[in-house]
Parts: sequence; structure tokens; C-alpha cells
Amino acid sequence: MSRGTFLVVGATSTIGRCVARRLAAEGCGLCLTGRDPEELAAVAADIAVRCGRPPLAVPLEARDFGSYPALMDACGAIPGGLAGAVITWGMPEDPLARTDPAATAQVVEVNLTAPALLLEWLADRLGPGSCLAVLSSVAGDRGRADTRLYGAAKAGLNVFLAGLRAHCDRRGIRVLTVKLGRVDTRLSFGLAGAFLAISPESAAKAVVRSLRRGRGTVYIPGWWRWIMLALRSLPEGLFRRLPR
Ligand SMILES: NC(=O)c1ccc[n+]([C@@H]2O[C@H](COP(=O)([O-])OP(=O)(O)OC[C@H]3O[C@@H](n4cnc5c(N)ncnc54)[C@H](OP(=O)(O)O)[C@@H]3O)[C@@H](O)[C@H]2O)c1
Repeated sequence: MSRGTFLVVGATSTIGRCVARRLAAEGCGLCLTGRDPEELAAVAADIAVRCGRPPLAVPLEARDFGSYPALMDACGAIPGGLAGAVITWGMPEDPLARTDPAATAQVVEVNLTAPALLLEWLADRLGPGSCLAVLSSVAGDRGRADTRLYGAAKAGLNVFLAGLRAHCDRRGIRVLTVKLGRVDTRLSFGLAGAFLAISPESAAKAVVRSLRRGRGTVYIPGWWRWIMLALRSLPEGLFRRLPR
């Protein structure tokens, strides 16, 4: 992987800040975004202290689509341009707000609409040899009762990424769909299956490894590929009866 400069979108996320730290430790330059300017400044300051190179920090709310061009301008001013980007935006659904149109729209916007729009902007600007990695989820591989909306949005994101991969292939830009299993973060807090969780640091290590040499769809940890292959092959009636 070229050392270059990487954009980490959602660098205040548990996994995003670990990815940013790891990239900085490997000598890469960083442009970080986060919706909370103070939290973002704290993440940037922590990285500057650890690595001696202050990252560029650009506050960005995912649903403020009109602010994307300003981020593109900031990235365009980076000497040498971007070597790649990692998008970590995501939010779970609130089981108590299933009939609330605004809450439903927000889950779809943060998990699907916003990444899709930003990736279109980025794909137009990155050059050959660069990489776009997007954190998706095994929840998008099969519909489950407790994550039905989140899973549907991630499934849509996966289809979008497959199409973007086809679009970017001939321009030498790698597009990675990173399907994470359970990671021990605030997002997965309280969900079933905690015994399968890996640490955010382990997840970040695998994400950065994929940035270097990953292709297509990457499962983290890798054994989720085989679990999901088995689960996808089950008839729906049988899948529904599995313990949560
Ligand atoms: N943890 C897991 O088990 C797991 C499993 C599969 C996939 N994933 C995926 O991994 C990614 C990172 O998740 P995580 O576990 O690290 O959880 P997290 O810490 O809650 O990260 C979610 C990120 O999305 C950002 N975000 C949410 N709504 C936003 C908005 N409207 N505008 C801007 N940013 C917004 C959050 O910003 P703030 O920092 O400001 O809150 C945060 O940076 C997500 O895409 C998630 O779907 C996680």
C-alpha cells in the first residue's frame, strides 16, 4: 500500500479511530472526519501526539449532503491527493421507533444513502492504485428480526458497492466491501452473540491489511464467510427458528 494520505470518514467511531491510529503508525498521512468537532479534534490531537504528524480534521455530518463538496475541496488540496478512503458511518435501528418515519429514514440515510453519495464523489476523484473501503456488516447477508432495518440498509450498501466495484475496476481503483461480524463497540452493545465479538483493534488491523491487498468482499474475521455461506443456504423457515 502506498504510504500516501488516507481519508477516514467517521474517525470518531470506535473502529474508525483504531483504523486511523494504525494508518498513522504505519506512516500514512490522514484526513479525518467526524460529526462532533470537539471529539474529532481530540482524536486528531491524540494521533498527532503519537505520530508527530497532525492529521487534517474536517467536521462532517453524514446527512448534510450539501457539505460533501467542501470535504472534496479539502481533500483536493492534499499534496499528492488521496491514496484511499475508509468509510465507517453506521447506526443501528431503535426497536422502539419502528413506526417512526424520521427514525427509519435516518437509519437508511446513515447506512446507505450517505456512503453511496460520498463514494460517488470520491470515485470521481481518486486515481489508479487507490482503494475505497467501506465498513458493512454480515447483518446485510440475511434478514434477522432484531436488525431488520439495519440489515436491509447494509444489504443495499453491499449491492451498491458491487456496482461501484464494476464501475471503478477499469480505472484501477479497488472497492472493498468489508463485512464485519461482531465487534466489541458501543454499536453492538446489548446485542446477542457477544461471545463472537472481536476487539476494535483486531478489526482495525484486518481493515488496514485489506486496504493493502484486499479484493472484492472481505469478511472480518475471515471465518464469517463460511458461517454466512452456511446461513444463507438455509431455507428461511429453518433460519427463522435458529436461536438468537
Ligand atoms: N460493532 C459491530 O459489531 C459492527 C458489526 C458490523 C458492522 N459494523 C459497522 O462498523 C462501522 C463502525 O461501527 P462501530 O462499531 O465503530 O460503532 P460506532 O462507534 O457507533 O461508529 C458509528 C459511526 O457512525 C457515525 N455516525 C452515525 N450517525 C452519523 C451521522 N448522522 N453523521 C455522521 N456520523 C454519524 C458515528 O459518529 P459519532 O462518533 O459522532 O457517534 C460513528 O463515527 C459501522 O458502519 C457499523 O455498521 C460494526
